[in-house]
Amino acid sequence: MSITSHLPRYPLAFLPTPLQPLPRMSELLRAELQPPTSNFQLLIKRDDQTGLATGGNKTRKLEFLVADALALGCDTLITVGATQSNHCRQTAAAAARAGLKCHLVLGGKPPAQANGNLLLDMLCGAELHWTPRENRLNRLAELTDELRTAGCRPYPITYGGSDPVGACGYAAALEELHEQVADLGLQVDAIVIPSSSSGTQAGLVAGAWALGWDAPIVGVSIDELQAELQAKVADLATATATRLGKPHTFAADDITVDAGYLGDGYGVVGALEREAISLMARTEGILLDPVYTGRAFGGLLDMLRRSKAFRKPFESGARTIVFWHTGGTPALFAYARELAAVPSSPLRA
Ligand SMILES: Cc1ncc(COP(=O)(O)O)c(C=O)c1O
Repeated sequence: MSITSHLPRYPLAFLPTPLQPLPRMSELLRAELQPPTSNFQLLIKRDDQTGLATGGNKTRKLEFLVADALALGCDTLITVGATQSNHCRQTAAAAARAGLKCHLVLGGKPPAQANGNLLLDMLCGAELHWTPRENRLNRLAELTDELRTAGCRPYPITYGGSDPVGACGYAAALEELHEQVADLGLQVDAIVIPSSSSGTQAGLVAGAWALGWDAPIVGVSIDELQAELQAKVADLATATATRLGKPHTFAADDITVDAGYLGDGYGVVGALEREAISLMARTEGILLDPVYTGRAFGGLLDMLRRSKAFRKPFESGARTIVFWHTGGTPALFAYARELAAVPSSPLRA
């Protein structure tokens, strides 16, 4: 029996997503590792292929959130994010698929020309509400009240779908990965993911606890300082474990976060992201995204290359690493200017 089979779930994703070896990338990195690790291999978990309006990690969370909304008799999903939010785009698509209305609270001002995720929000029929970035959660609460007054039954979803309901999507995802690595007879030394609003990492951590799998899960922080993100993930993993029916209190120290790659801030593409994106595209034909997976994979490359550098939990000489591709592909097109300056060599610029 699955660790989430007692929870309502609305099918949205193509599952299981592939667990794909990266033979050319692994070979390239083997040549750079110190000390040489001949049996080093990197695999990628393709959650960019979850299928809902170009896919991504939020689709898994939305399977549980939409089921909860329907169980509560709601008819409208409302959520909040940045202009290029992958979460908002997948929420708009999930609402369309489930026959619900969708309202999105976006930070900032509408651009002259919608592209990337914003364009897809509009194609999926979401109603957009613009507000200053710092006012987004207030506006979400206000809009929920306004919609109720107007006779709707809204289901508000917080940043990134990162609550105990949504995070169960990643508990289920960890179980899916566990089955895949067992089938392949692999021992995984580290699972590396981008971590931001904390739901993905918290779900994986809670899932690992519920399964009894001592999986080393490393969150590369996208926009939070280490201690803050560790505390957020620990709190949400604790609440998620309760929802899974396997209560456990996680401490911040139980959570592995590397916040060494924040660069110039959220959504600011630098050399780290550019190199990671072009290296993955040129070596394996796989597209990372500019905000999350580009940064996280750039961080992983750096951890691997600075061999001192096999920091926790790599220091035991990690041999098999799974990098979790959490999606975000449409944002590439909104970053055309920043990404045009890719390094000319497939190796380090
Ligand atoms: C492509 C992508 N990867 C990773 C994340 C981070 O996931 P979480 O917010 O659950 O930490 C997001 C969140 O928006 C995302 O869009």
